[in-house]
Amino acid sequence: MDKVRIFDTTLRDGEQTPGVTVTPEQKLQIAIKLDELGVDAIEAGFPIVSQGEMKAISDIVKQGLKAEICGLARATETDIDAAIKCNLNYVHTFIATSDIHLQYKLKMTRDQVLDRAIKAVEYAKKHGLRVEFSAEDATRSERPFLIQVFKAVTDAGADRIDIPDTVGYATPQYIADLVTEVKAATRLPISMHCHDDFGLAVANSIAGINAGAACAHVTINGLGERAGNASLEEFVMALQCLYNRGHNIKTTSLYEISRFVSNTMGIVVQPNKAIIGENAFGHESGIHTHGILNNPLTYEPISPELVGRKRWLQAGKHAGAHGIRAMLEEFGIKPTEEQLHAIVEKQKNMADKGRSITTAELLSVAGEVMNSSQFEERFKLYDFHIVTGMNIIPTAVVRLNAEGKDLIASEIGVGPVDAALKAIQKIASDVSNIKIREYKLDSITGGSDALAEVIVKVEDKNGNIVSARKANEDIVVASVEAVMDAINKVLLKKVLFTKPD
Ligand code: KIV
Ligand code: ZN
Repeated sequence: MDKVRIFDTTLRDGEQTPGVTVTPEQKLQIAIKLDELGVDAIEAGFPIVSQGEMKAISDIVKQGLKAEICGLARATETDIDAAIKCNLNYVHTFIATSDIHLQYKLKMTRDQVLDRAIKAVEYAKKHGLRVEFSAEDATRSERPFLIQVFKAVTDAGADRIDIPDTVGYATPQYIADLVTEVKAATRLPISMHCHDDFGLAVANSIAGINAGAACAHVTINGLGERAGNASLEEFVMALQCLYNRGHNIKTTSLYEISRFVSNTMGIVVQPNKAIIGENAFGHESGIHTHGILNNPLTYEPISPELVGRKRWLQAGKHAGAHGIRAMLEEFGIKPTEEQLHAIVEKQKNMADKGRSITTAELLSVAGEVMNSSQFEERFKLYDFHIVTGMNIIPTAVVRLNAEGKDLIASEIGVGPVDAALKAIQKIASDVSNIKIREYKLDSITGGSDALAEVIVKVEDKNGNIVSARKANEDIVVASVEAVMDAINKVLLKKVLFTKPD
């Protein structure tokens, strides 16, 4: 069977996610990563929307990527001309075909829509473009009219037909039936463009492929208008693992590109998102962890490495002795049975107070129970000073003992926390190759003297990551203490399971 074509629209529909805009430089970086990932086509943007968008698309075209580069255009000469100005040779042109859109948006008759669709395809073909034609809101369009439009644009020279489920209203059964009928009406390759308003975008895309569509429009992290589009990661992995279909995606890069797009576009991935969510390969409950430690197949449908990830275990009230022992062993810590049970109970009591247990907290519990020199801190903070205020660049001076050496570092930052953490990081990276990877001010409750809770993650040179949490009325103190704790705990780390971030 032919490989399924992956048409990525992160830079077009994905950028239409409410609140998201990226610069031309950022678009180019994402396009390069998508190309390395192996997508077959990149919808780089919607040229007519702005000068910046045209520049971004032109820059991507100039890059000479392997993927085909496409731009969106309404079915008008002006929009198609804008695509041509970007030096695109592939355009995705669309016009709505549903009565709702005709009546309330386009204010056009069906004959006018049909005529516009034909003229747009002819115009683009006359200018030497490859043309993918979308009948917007196809799944809510009256079937005979939709088929009439698809036949007409096929005769007008379109190269591909796209079926958008614009408001995510279709079911897999409906899509299968629709694709079968469209396939009988046109010889052109069919794409699916499914939105996730009912959480069915991936299921609908797959139903389309199984019914004979050749391609799916997808986005990294499922970004896109409203609830988003079909997620590239979920679609590709389901195709490969559940339907045994081929594609050109380098799946081991999926997690990395997901993180990159999330950071660049500023949209956090929900922790329980399939494949790329923080928790997709995390295990806490004792039963699951026990199974995973015996054989990961018990509770993992695919191996995390297949999508560029690592499995990780979580302490907490559901965790059992097997999991906690494995987590401690990652750090070379081997409690006796009695100590292990005391550690398990202590951390369960902490979790019963209603909060998650960071790795650093688990290790502190183990340190208290085992009272072993193994836990001795290798980074000790003597003191720190901060200068901050209006019209002053926040500056921090930190004095600490790192691996037996007394050291001082000073740094400036955008604020006092930034300056202090930069100063600590300077020493930690020089001495032990440790970086601060994430910082989160988790909660501040009450008035101006309220407790600030800070969670940080630090990473050593082997990619081992440890999270730590500290609370204090002073945000800078909470931040510095959390980072120092995480550094001391990651220094215990050997290798094995690693929490990814
Ligand atoms: O969802 C949609 O209908 C679209 C069109 C532009 C194809 O994004
Ligand atoms: Zn869309």
